[in-house]
Amino acid sequence: MASTDPYEGALFIPSGGPVWHWRALWRQWRWAGFKSDLANHLETWQPPSERLLLMGPSAGWCLPSAFLTRFKTIDAIDIDPLAPALFRFNHGLALARSGTSLTFHRLNLFNAFDSILDAYPEHAILFSNVLGQHLFHDEDQPRAKATIEAIKLSLSRRYWASFHDRLSGAYPPGKELPLTQSVSHSIESATLASNLGLSGQWLDHLTVNVLPEGTERQLIAWPLLADWLHIVEFGSVKPR
Ligand SMILES: C[S@@+](CC[C@H](N)C(=O)[O-])C[C@H]1O[C@@H](n2cnc3c(N)ncnc32)[C@H](O)[C@@H]1O
Repeated sequence: MASTDPYEGALFIPSGGPVWHWRALWRQWRWAGFKSDLANHLETWQPPSERLLLMGPSAGWCLPSAFLTRFKTIDAIDIDPLAPALFRFNHGLALARSGTSLTFHRLNLFNAFDSILDAYPEHAILFSNVLGQHLFHDEDQPRAKATIEAIKLSLSRRYWASFHDRLSGAYPPGKELPLTQSVSHSIESATLASNLGLSGQWLDHLTVNVLPEGTERQLIAWPLLADWLHIVEFGSVKPR
């Protein structure tokens, strides 16, 4: 499904690793608004399964424990060797209290995609801010875009959801953030930036067509850094 990932087995990963973890720890309270919006959207996603497959969850810095503890079993797929221990640091106590079992698998989700789906046929699936990172793992951008757009074809019989970056770019510190909004169709990146009043250069994370056409999309502002904003899209999909 994808080319060889140059970051397979590496400690420093452009979409994760020590720099990401340190930043996430440091910025937790600044991300409270984003995390609260995301938690509300995750609350609306009620797949009929007690099992969850988490794709690229890192340490779950943005994921609410209250969402994770709804499940009896969680299998997590991430290439970051630091993710399992830090995920347990963030959520281990809550998961122990709810009796939720957690197993991490150090796998490249794109290279093992179909075998992962086959191994967990009953699990609902959450792509946890990973699909919009794929452009950092495959320098061939048309191929990276095609890879993340193709996943919905393999998922046609599954309950799944994803939150992923749509745009990122410099944003004046202290300026009011664009408001969370809901849209019923995919919006091309340039139009999206213009609709949100974003000026200047914005990185397109190639995720415009990750969700199937007709999926309701929630757009959330995430102030990754004091002067750097991401626009994140959340959507959930039922079997067709
Ligand atoms: C931005 S982080 C996710 C953050 C997470 N939502 C949180 O709340 O902390 C992206 C994660 O995806 C993982 N990742 C990126 N590409 C991957 C791949 N092909 N297979 C598995 N994991 C991948 C990275 O290792 C990283 O942990």
